[in-house]
Amino acid sequence: MGAIDPFDRLVAGLDGLREGLRVAVVYNGDKDAQGAVIHKGRNPRSEKSYKPVAKDIRNGLRAAGFRHVMLLPDDLTLPERLREERIDLAWLNTAGMQGYDAIAHAPAVMELAGIPYVGHRPLLALTLDSKQVFKREAQAIGLPTPPFLVWDGVRGRLETDDPAFRRVFDGWEGGFVVKPVIGRASLNVHHVSERQDVPEVVEAVYRETLNQVLVEAFMEGPEYCVAVSGPVVVRGGRPERGAEPFAFSAVERRLAPDEAIFTSMDLKPIDGGRARALPPDDPARAPLLALARRVHDDLQIRCLVRLDVRADAAGRLHILEANPKPDLKRPDERGTSLVCLGLAAEGMGYEDLLLSLLLDRLDHYVRNRPSVVAHLERLLE
Ligand SMILES: Nc1ncnc2c1ncn2[C@@H]1O[C@H](COP(=O)(O)OP(=O)(O)OP(=O)(O)O)[C@@H](O)[C@H]1O
Ligand SMILES: [Mg+2]
Repeated sequence: MGAIDPFDRLVAGLDGLREGLRVAVVYNGDKDAQGAVIHKGRNPRSEKSYKPVAKDIRNGLRAAGFRHVMLLPDDLTLPERLREERIDLAWLNTAGMQGYDAIAHAPAVMELAGIPYVGHRPLLALTLDSKQVFKREAQAIGLPTPPFLVWDGVRGRLETDDPAFRRVFDGWEGGFVVKPVIGRASLNVHHVSERQDVPEVVEAVYRETLNQVLVEAFMEGPEYCVAVSGPVVVRGGRPERGAEPFAFSAVERRLAPDEAIFTSMDLKPIDGGRARALPPDDPARAPLLALARRVHDDLQIRCLVRLDVRADAAGRLHILEANPKPDLKRPDERGTSLVCLGLAAEGMGYEDLLLSLLLDRLDHYVRNRPSVVAHLERLLE
């Protein structure tokens, strides 16, 4: 008799996991909480608590039948809490609390502790989170991304006759976008139509972020998002393992006629007026889904990402970024998240999405990295 496929084993053991798996949903902590840090430091990313969405995830996992799901802050208390709570698996809904490269802190702790997690390994989390690193990698493997320059403010002021600037932008007649290498919600992202104004805006963004600054060619066409995760998908509670990565929620972000940069969701929540799921016959849909699957394969991605994409004047798609921790807010009457906008068309609800991500990650571990989940064997018997 052949060995049972890891996916079939997981599905057969799902009730055991629901009953016994101890899950921590990890969110970025608060520097002022007791024991959170030794000294308070800077966070190069603009701060936002991911705790409300962590609660959505916890409640969703509970609704999907998992009995032991708790919230833990991503701070210095985390290793000890993981031990005390006998956590089997972590769900990382955090981009870190302070310091450089903070999005890698939580996955690094999990690697160190030997705890499997839903999230990206430290190196990939950083690659995706640092727009300039992602873009260099994308360029090197032939994925389309707008031409760009990275400016290090430590070197002083950028001049537009600097050879580095000229190498990229000589001959470019369009506008520019100046933005932080690590950001969120369109904060500190500027459209600059005149070349001579670029240096001043670069300086301003550097002063604000004390990190490198990106100058990109402005893509003037429509803007899209698309989500992609691994091949395990749950629809109406029924898990299946497909042949390729699961690309979904191809969405157009609606820009007002005078809106060059998509307005921050801190200011305008995502709703039907701000974004629409692309209907099946929209010509942009198939290329977007194909691009997302390609990114997933080429960068060996093993957890959900959301690509932000924009077309140039000729309609060619360019990847602006691949978000390693896309917003997973549960849709309600006040708004939704770009990732959840296309779920209904897939025959999926919020719990289906969470279960898909969890089972896909477990499927990867059981199939390819079994030693990391050896402690879960007891639940799968
Ligand atoms: N090269 C570009 N061409 C055209 N528009 C751009 C470009 N870069 C950024 N934008 C606009 O600025 C917005 C924010 O940029 P980007 O997605 O790179 O940063 P972010 O702040 O991390 O975004 P998010 O809201 O997804 O966290 C985009 O949604 C888009 O509207
Ligand atoms: Mg973005």
